[in-house]
Amino acid sequence: MELVQEEKMQHEIDALVARGIEEIQKAGSLREVETLRVQFFGKKGSLAELQKTLGSLPVEERPAFGARMNDARARLGEVLDTKNADLEEQSLNVKLAAESIDISLPGREQREGGLHPVSDVSRQIFRIFESMGFTVLDGPELEEEYYNFDALNIPVHHPAREDQDSFYVGEGRLLRTQTSPMQIRTFERFAPPLAAISPGKCFRRDAVDATHLHTFHQVEGFLVDKGVSMADLKGVLTTFAHRMFGSETRIRFRPDFFPFVEPGAEVAISCFACGGKGCRTCKQTGWIEIGGAGMIHPAVFKSVGYDYQEWSGFAFGMGIERIVMKKYGVPDIRMFYENDMRFLSQFH
Ligand code: PHE
Repeated sequence: MELVQEEKMQHEIDALVARGIEEIQKAGSLREVETLRVQFFGKKGSLAELQKTLGSLPVEERPAFGARMNDARARLGEVLDTKNADLEEQSLNVKLAAESIDISLPGREQREGGLHPVSDVSRQIFRIFESMGFTVLDGPELEEEYYNFDALNIPVHHPAREDQDSFYVGEGRLLRTQTSPMQIRTFERFAPPLAAISPGKCFRRDAVDATHLHTFHQVEGFLVDKGVSMADLKGVLTTFAHRMFGSETRIRFRPDFFPFVEPGAEVAISCFACGGKGCRTCKQTGWIEIGGAGMIHPAVFKSVGYDYQEWSGFAFGMGIERIVMKKYGVPDIRMFYENDMRFLSQFH
């Protein structure tokens, strides 16, 4: 009778362990494992319930029962821990797989950018004039008629003021047609001696064709000091031409008229493509026109309050697109602003 009871108890413990292992194996999440742990090991759990039957056993059987219960606890605890570890590893693997970087995939190609040819040549121009002591100044694109015309000795009736040449925005303002107004703005701010260049956008209501755009770039240059002569102007522009187009380059001045200089000159350089013999780049003339220049007119000095008996100076203005076109053989000025990568990437 006592033996029967002992066997029965053992059977119950074994059954509990077997059922427990089965349930734990089936658990699909860490949360389920925790619930099972409570079901078996909790204060009111299955193991605690079974433990209560200890009291109903004869004293001599209690140690054996206790030992068996300990084995059951150890076994179930072990299975729970293993399951827990398995599930943790599984979820880590899922996470790693989701976050993994496929190192066999080729990288995305990064296109390297570069300066626009007009910006690039502008910087070359800055460097050359800076090395000769010129400062680089920036000026407004929306300009007052006074700076664009009046102060530059361009009277009201002058044809350059005509509506078809300029973009007027009202109230005596227009998009500047040249960078020369920066002469006036600079002379107003600084006392001589001085030397500066001022690059930037200019605007004209020209019909657009292969050599004309409504928006283009110029660089203005000017120097004021005592006893400045046309020879200084020619020396500075010759140095510029040598550095920009090569040391064989010659400079040619021909008389020209600009209201704010006297005398005035058209500036050309000997063709760097043929050396002056005549070719396509120079249209068979041997010369390439790059801008205008001259000695600053006394009327300009008067308008800014400089004493024209004491000071003298020169000024020049060049078209930047024109220089780039000649330097690189670009046939049409419109190509600069069409944003065609096949064109632009040739300059990098
Ligand atoms: N501003 C003149 C032009 O646009 C060029 C120039 C500048 C001429 C300075 C003489 C002196 O044509």
